[in-house]
Amino acid sequence: MTSWIKDKAHGELARIREAKSKQVYPYFRPFESGGLHTSIAGHAIVNFSSNDYLGLTNHPKVKEAAKAAVDKYACGLSSSRVQATTVAHVELEERLAAWFKMPKCLVTTTGYQAMVGTLMSLADVDTTLVLDQLSHACILDGSFLAAGVPKNGSEIRFFNHNSARSLERVLKTRERKNALVCLEGVYSLDGDQATIAEILEVCRRYDACVVLDDAHGTGTLGTHGRGILEEHGLEGTFPTDKLVIVSTFSKSLGGIGGIILGDEEVVDHIKHRARSFVFSATLPVPIVAAASTILGMLETDGPALVGELKEKAEYMRKNLKQLGFDLGHSNTHIMPVMCRDERKALFMHVALLENGVMMVPITYPGVKQGEERLRVNVTRGHSKEDMDKALELLDVYGQAFFVQSGDELGPMEA
Ligand SMILES: Cc1ncc(COP(=O)(O)O)c(C=O)c1O
Repeated sequence: MTSWIKDKAHGELARIREAKSKQVYPYFRPFESGGLHTSIAGHAIVNFSSNDYLGLTNHPKVKEAAKAAVDKYACGLSSSRVQATTVAHVELEERLAAWFKMPKCLVTTTGYQAMVGTLMSLADVDTTLVLDQLSHACILDGSFLAAGVPKNGSEIRFFNHNSARSLERVLKTRERKNALVCLEGVYSLDGDQATIAEILEVCRRYDACVVLDDAHGTGTLGTHGRGILEEHGLEGTFPTDKLVIVSTFSKSLGGIGGIILGDEEVVDHIKHRARSFVFSATLPVPIVAAASTILGMLETDGPALVGELKEKAEYMRKNLKQLGFDLGHSNTHIMPVMCRDERKALFMHVALLENGVMMVPITYPGVKQGEERLRVNVTRGHSKEDMDKALELLDVYGQAFFVQSGDELGPMEA
């Protein structure tokens, strides 16, 4: 007799087994080098599903800085920040706070951890957490943890994606005294920006505090790359003691690590209370050095770097549209190619990969059934040749699998 955990695993792996048996399983493919241009099983590929938006992760200066930090600090400090903080962490936090124009910054080991820790430290039994319906897993998980604290659990409510009216209804009818509204600068699966001005206006009227996850806006939006608030001219317009910005080094900043920005006391409170931060190991200094080097590039050359990304994204958008692809609600460098059918998304992925272009399919439960898509992220590190190759392949296989026309695929034999 097998164990119940093995029985559970076997039952729940049915879809994965089926995809593997049909040779369309798309995930966990091992890269043989780092970067947007890599290889899988000896075949060169251009990766369009990477979040290395500024294409700086493999910059020689970034790698040199990390190597020098290995010599001085090794790859880990064998403890949490409480007893393993270095001058490099502190210096980076000060520079990040200054660059983002926020009073204080705390750096954590991942963005996920930063969000979970922020929500758990701030929300309690007097709090209604008000979440956009398309919130990232880190916002959901942080909220579920806050709601599950014995005798001190928060209320959780959702508002319709990007709808200020729906948000207002929720704020009006909430059960708890304090409201903490959580939203993202750019929604990573759809590539659409938050309707930030309207949402902040409602939050102001209802005296709600805001947690803004700008993981995909940092380095990509605003003239200098400071994110959604800079993009919409809203920096400094919302009271800083009511705002926490959470971001990450795992996209534009070339490594891994979380960023929490806010009022001095609010950030200090999170620093002492966030269990995901206090009880987990320090971000290694080589990673701090890499992020610090990219921040230096943004400090001196931000507008040029972000401008190049925006130009490339515009080129790709224009051409994808001309070829007849549906890009959903995208208005950023993240452009989902909507297939609206699981098989189309999986077949497209396989056909493209065999020709050296990687665009990972997103299927249920990552998105609703009927909203399946290819994940296409344009980065500053992609060349015009990379984009032209991807466009040509997308056109050929998109027509073969009826992606542009929206026609049905015939039945698939097992
Ligand atoms: C919107 C959003 N928030 C937070 C995170 C988590 O960031 P990290 O990779 O640093 O844990 C991600 C990454 O997937 C994300 O997309």
